Amino acid sequence: MDINEEMNTTNSNRAAEEWVSSHAASINPRYRLGYHLMPTVGWMNDPNGLVYFQGQYHAFYQHHPYSAEWGPMHWGHAVSDDMVHWRRLPIALVPGGTGDRDGCYSGSAVDDDGVLSLIYTGQVFHSGDIQPFNVDFTETQNLATSTDGIHFDKSSRNPVIAHAPKDNSRNFRDPKVWRHGGWWYGIIGSSTVDDDARALLYRSHDLREWEYRGAIAHSEGRVGQMWECPDFFEVDGSHVLLFSPVGMQAQGNRYRNVFQTGYLLGDFDYESSTLTHGTFEELDRGHDFYASQTLEAPDGRRICMGWMNMWQTPMPEQQDGWAGALTLPRELHVVDGTVRMTPIAELQSLRSGTVTECSAVVRDREILASLEANRCEILVSCEGITRSEMTGLSFDIGLDSPVTFTYDRSRGLLSLDRGGEDGVRAYECGTLDHLDLHAYLDNSSLEIFVNDGLATFTSRIYPAAPATLMMRTGDEGVRAKAVVYSLESIG
Ligand code: FRU
Repeated sequence: MDINEEMNTTNSNRAAEEWVSSHAASINPRYRLGYHLMPTVGWMNDPNGLVYFQGQYHAFYQHHPYSAEWGPMHWGHAVSDDMVHWRRLPIALVPGGTGDRDGCYSGSAVDDDGVLSLIYTGQVFHSGDIQPFNVDFTETQNLATSTDGIHFDKSSRNPVIAHAPKDNSRNFRDPKVWRHGGWWYGIIGSSTVDDDARALLYRSHDLREWEYRGAIAHSEGRVGQMWECPDFFEVDGSHVLLFSPVGMQAQGNRYRNVFQTGYLLGDFDYESSTLTHGTFEELDRGHDFYASQTLEAPDGRRICMGWMNMWQTPMPEQQDGWAGALTLPRELHVVDGTVRMTPIAELQSLRSGTVTECSAVVRDREILASLEANRCEILVSCEGITRSEMTGLSFDIGLDSPVTFTYDRSRGLLSLDRGGEDGVRAYECGTLDHLDLHAYLDNSSLEIFVNDGLATFTSRIYPAAPATLMMRTGDEGVRAKAVVYSLESIG
């Protein structure tokens, strides 16, 4: 990078920071979250560059500081000792270079022998119309590095991948990079000229020269027209290709969001670059989970975070000067051929008191807790579900009807109903005799983990009042144990 370019980048980073601090006080707090990562002001979408570097976890994210709308993408930045308590750092990437004039799109981060290296997509719109769904663009892959983990220099070698393969459409973005067998590997989301979504594999010795190894999986008309934000990793002896397909049609209770996030599970052969895999499965069953990314913690755990909103759906917090949040970090495991998510153990450090603790035969609509701040963790374990009536929880948050989460044994169906148009998301889980619910309410978000990750539902909800939590059951024999903890805010 020549010195003038470096100066400009630094000035733009500073301008963005000044804007953020001078506008922070103007935010309406009514829907703000207490213990999730969200922007101080402005817009956030995908998690980017999740990585453990020199003793801390780093999370970057797609960010437009200047309004609560998507715009020229910056990379916001935060660090944490435990993935729970986050401290914001200065904006890491600002668009404006030759290859990333109109946006620094999603990507990943690696520790390259003490250099924190970001590999991201540079976006240029030819018509000058910077819109998320404008199709007249060029996407290239770029590198930025830092030795202090705070200030980043864009590489003078950018773009490090200038062209997609010849049979590719313009969609060529969201590189996720990892180390294997002495090489850096990268997977990139794309589609062919015929709109067949696919994930492209590259490899490199130095993060600068990249060799194309082929597509490791295709949609073949079944899994959408473009795969965004691919990720690839091994967990519990299986290879997982995680991605967010665009353009899938709803089928009954499946794929009901505008866009999906899910995975193919299988075996990967690095020699031949082939992935033998099963069918596409959604990773989360709620309304608001997209563009997830994972990191490997130093103890080997595979941790996943997603964007807790959905494209092209209302985001009421936009009226308040901000939009978007990341989900809680979840630990991934493969159990019985499916990928399961459970909240990381570190989240227990948020507990600031016990609101309720009970162990009883429960009655329908029995009140478990009335909250002052809508910030809590709920653990409910139900045994003896033998009849067909619904069992679960409801959250009265002052809306026309309470938000309910229930298991219907007669239909083998778990469902979350947040009310309003298109309010229901459901998962066909089959017959369960017990139900363990582990839920996190954080004012305008609800994340529910069922039976150790058998299903997870993540949805935004917008309260009009402090919440009252109630048990739901028509089954008189159900014995429930419940604990509700109040959680602290991370500030
Ligand atoms: C996914 C996505 C990515 C892109 C980014 C732009 O939500 O569309 O494909 O890099 O958002 O902000």
